[in-house]
Amino acid sequence: MRFATVLMVALSAATSGFALTKKGGNATTYDPGLGSCGVFSTAAELVVAVDAHTINNFPGAGSDPHLNPMCGRKLKVTYKTKSVNVKVVETCPASKCKVGSVELSPTAFKHLAPLSVGTLHNITWTLL
Ligand SMILES: *[C@@H]1O[C@H](CO)[C@@H](O)[C@H](O)[C@H]1NC(C)=O
Ligand SMILES: *[C@@H]1O[C@H](CO)[C@@H](O)[C@H](O)[C@H]1NC(C)=O
Repeated sequence: MRFATVLMVALSAATSGFALTKKGGNATTYDPGLGSCGVFSTAAELVVAVDAHTINNFPGAGSDPHLNPMCGRKLKVTYKTKSVNVKVVETCPASKCKVGSVELSPTAFKHLAPLSVGTLHNITWTLL
């Protein structure tokens, strides 16, 4: 019991110290709902869907997407001079997001550009 607790603390410290930055992706919007992390989100929340390759290969990721260690972590997404911090709640399928691309809630997207822009090219995101 005590060993398990110590191990979990050590593991979470290890993953939270994992630095990750992706450059050159695109950002689009999506309609949040029940995400792969197992939590329900709304369009009003500052949430993000991370490309499947990145989230599925994140250190500690297993077969259960609800337990993915990237879930609940914050990303700082930057487009030109603007940034927004968003919480990881969803997986963006490879068919929609290449590595480094994200889907943002409409509210998060609006922090970077008007919704009418549609797709933002050459974003950078960093795991906080
Ligand atoms: C970004 O979108 C363009 C098309 O608008 C596409 O050609 C490019 O591959 C996309 N890049 C990424 C990383 O998804
Ligand atoms: C992409 O953005 C970076 C800054 O994050 C910039 O240095 C680079 O020139 C940009 N590339 C293009 C093709 O706009």
